[in-house]
Amino acid sequence: MKILLLGKNGQVGWELQRALAPLGTVVALDRGGADGLCGDLEDLDGLDRTVRKLVPDVIVNAAAYTAVDKAETDANRAHRINAEAPGALATAASALGALLVHYSTDYVFDGGGDRAWREDSPTGPLSVYGRTKLAGEEAIRASGCRHLIFRTSWVYGARGGNFARTMLRLASERDRLTVIADQIGAPTGADLIADVSAHAIRACLATPERCGTYHLVASGETSWHGYAGFVIETARELGVALKVEEVAAIASRDYPSAAVRPLNSRLDTARLRDTFGLHLPDWRDGVARMLREVLS
Ligand SMILES: NC(=O)c1ccc[n+]([C@@H]2O[C@H](COP(=O)([O-])OP(=O)(O)OC[C@H]3O[C@@H](n4cnc5c(N)ncnc54)[C@H](OP(=O)(O)O)[C@@H]3O)[C@@H](O)[C@H]2O)c1
Repeated sequence: MKILLLGKNGQVGWELQRALAPLGTVVALDRGGADGLCGDLEDLDGLDRTVRKLVPDVIVNAAAYTAVDKAETDANRAHRINAEAPGALATAASALGALLVHYSTDYVFDGGGDRAWREDSPTGPLSVYGRTKLAGEEAIRASGCRHLIFRTSWVYGARGGNFARTMLRLASERDRLTVIADQIGAPTGADLIADVSAHAIRACLATPERCGTYHLVASGETSWHGYAGFVIETARELGVALKVEEVAAIASRDYPSAAVRPLNSRLDTARLRDTFGLHLPDWRDGVARMLREVLS
């Protein structure tokens, strides 16, 4: 089996390089491409040429415009990368009969209420990023290609920067931190997303009826404030000396940002668990493991 992986050096892309390896030959590209192959999601013709040249069985798109605040003033580029490029990949996948795997976000919802969003819940993105990600999903579904779209949230990886690392740095520099407490979601490891993706790809190749849109997040829920508290507590248990004495809870309205974020980012994962027979671990398990990895 041949797999084309785009966005190989992002948080999820990096873990996919590992998780997809046992499934077949993985041709992994970043935006710079390799061997005459194009990995730049802004080059739609280049993507089409690459897919035709490689003739992959599976295309996995882990690349995206993920700078949520910057997207507010860079909407055309965000739309090209998050909406038009997935659409172009879907058209190319459809022509070949390839399976397209793509990632989307809790930001397609408006964050109202306190119930977990299901895959068929009404969408209502609050930001440019959310709107472009939703447009990407819709382009894939409209293409008629076989696809898996995973909506996830609050992604972290052991590699590169992430919220937990930022909290650890600030907690070592300051006595007091203020962290948003009214946005609720589930921190989800890039490693979990990659492992579930590999499992679902195998299942969908065997049983195409399982293709579709799924919510993929760790179990349980917390706020950014709860997440920060857990990170600091775990780091201290691991022997890390931190200066911070107080982690104060604040409301989103007291931390203005260019893009509006949903308050309720809870995602219902029943469809994923039932369809693929999977257990999704508690978010604390993955965060603690990532901390042990980055702090050792
Ligand atoms: N991070 C989150 O909290 C989160 C939450 C919900 C959903 N998601 C979704 O999950 C997926 C994976 O996210 P992630 O956290 O792994 O993101 P990430 O770490 O920001 O990685 C995104 C990757 O996309 C690449 N990229 C950006 N523009 C590109 C272009 N024009 N051509 C080719 N590559 C380009 C980036 O490359 P450069 O480094 O060269 O820019 C980067 O390697 C995305 O679809 C994202 O929307 C993420």
